Amino acid sequence: MTVTFSPFIARVVAVTSGKGGVGKTNVVAGLATAFAKAGQKVVVLDANFGLANLDVLLGLSPKYTLEHVLKGEKIMEEVMLEAPVAGAMSISVIPTSSGVHELSHLDPALELRLTQSLQRVCEDADWLFIDTAAGIHDAVLKMLAAAQEVIIVSTPEPTSLLDAYAMLKLLHLREPDKPVHMVINNAQSLEEATEAADQLKAAAQHFLGKELEILGLVPSDRHLLQAVREQRSVVDLYPNSPAGTALHHMAESLAEGLRA
Ligand SMILES: Nc1ncnc2c1ncn2[C@@H]1O[C@H](COP(=O)(O)OP(=O)(O)OP(=O)(O)O)[C@@H](O)[C@H]1O
Ligand SMILES: [Mg+2]
Repeated sequence: MTVTFSPFIARVVAVTSGKGGVGKTNVVAGLATAFAKAGQKVVVLDANFGLANLDVLLGLSPKYTLEHVLKGEKIMEEVMLEAPVAGAMSISVIPTSSGVHELSHLDPALELRLTQSLQRVCEDADWLFIDTAAGIHDAVLKMLAAAQEVIIVSTPEPTSLLDAYAMLKLLHLREPDKPVHMVINNAQSLEEATEAADQLKAAAQHFLGKELEILGLVPSDRHLLQAVREQRSVVDLYPNSPAGTALHHMAESLAEGLRA
């Protein structure tokens, strides 16, 4: 038994990275907000079992989390919270608990419970975004395998790019046909972002024979920092800011892409 979310009606997109702290959770929150504003139903799953904080970023304080569902103490509907978005549909958030070791090693029984619960709550959703931990760990790889598409986030820093490439390579070796989208975040300039994206594209083409799709370039933006402090997505709070605009465009590009 492995987790698979492929019979879902929703598009299931996992967001990951090689290196930590590169902006995954902000990308998830931004894309989710952009789609909510477009009138779509979005569910987000915090699968960063080590450092869960998607709930905090969306201004929520969960009492119960995925841990309670997997332990059989609550059902998914009881732990799911609604994150409001100004003038739009709310985002359904499935929070998780930080540092819960059982969650980092999903056994087949837990996987089945997770899959069935998710299928139920995503029945009428357009999107399910999964915010994962950084790095190559079993629990992360399971989430990536379960999703239909993967977004890898990297900053333009060489260390982050190298780790993003390592993740891309591993994914490619395991599932060469899975659509992978690349996001360069927190770039100081468009030039820096484009250069980083070109480097990754060239490496993917040269070493893996893979055409890498660059989904978006998000600039470093103080509005995003302010939005994090206010526990709202930058797309909600400052939609016309450089980062807000870039994330909005990214959502449009993702929506235009073919379904996996
Ligand atoms: N575009 C940006 N402009 C300015 N700061 C940014 C930007 N993107 C991310 N940051 C900074 O990086 C921090 C980390 O972002 P985030 O929590 O989204 O990363 P992450 O990849 O989810 O981290 P983790 O690996 O711990 O889950 C943010 O709180 C913010 O301070
Ligand atoms: Mg995160």
